[in-house]
Amino acid sequence: MISLIDTADIEEGTSRGIELDNHYMFAVKKDDQLFLYWNRCPHLGTPLEWEENRFLDSDAALIQCSTHGALFQIEDGRCLAGPCKGKHLQAIPFIVVNGMITVEESALRISTPL
Ligand code: FES
Repeated sequence: MISLIDTADIEEGTSRGIELDNHYMFAVKKDDQLFLYWNRCPHLGTPLEWEENRFLDSDAALIQCSTHGALFQIEDGRCLAGPCKGKHLQAIPFIVVNGMITVEESALRISTPL
């Protein structure tokens, strides 16, 4: 198991980029729930963030890709609008152990094509 980030370091309604051995992910906390995705837009495979740790739109209601503005539901990563409408961000399975977002090593080996 690999610990990625302390959940206390993610404020409600914000996102955090996470890098581990060249694996790029991000976490979002919304309504006290946590979500973890690969940092890769299903449109062109680019990183999503506007600037460091900024993956959400101005209302913090949706995830927004900085390249062409695609909007994704925080809860399931589904693209609601934009060039990849209907596609999904790829979620990463995790558990919280001692307050840390924790993943199986095998979860980091999965690389699903766009
Ligand atoms: S690369 Fe994300 S919307 Fe085009």
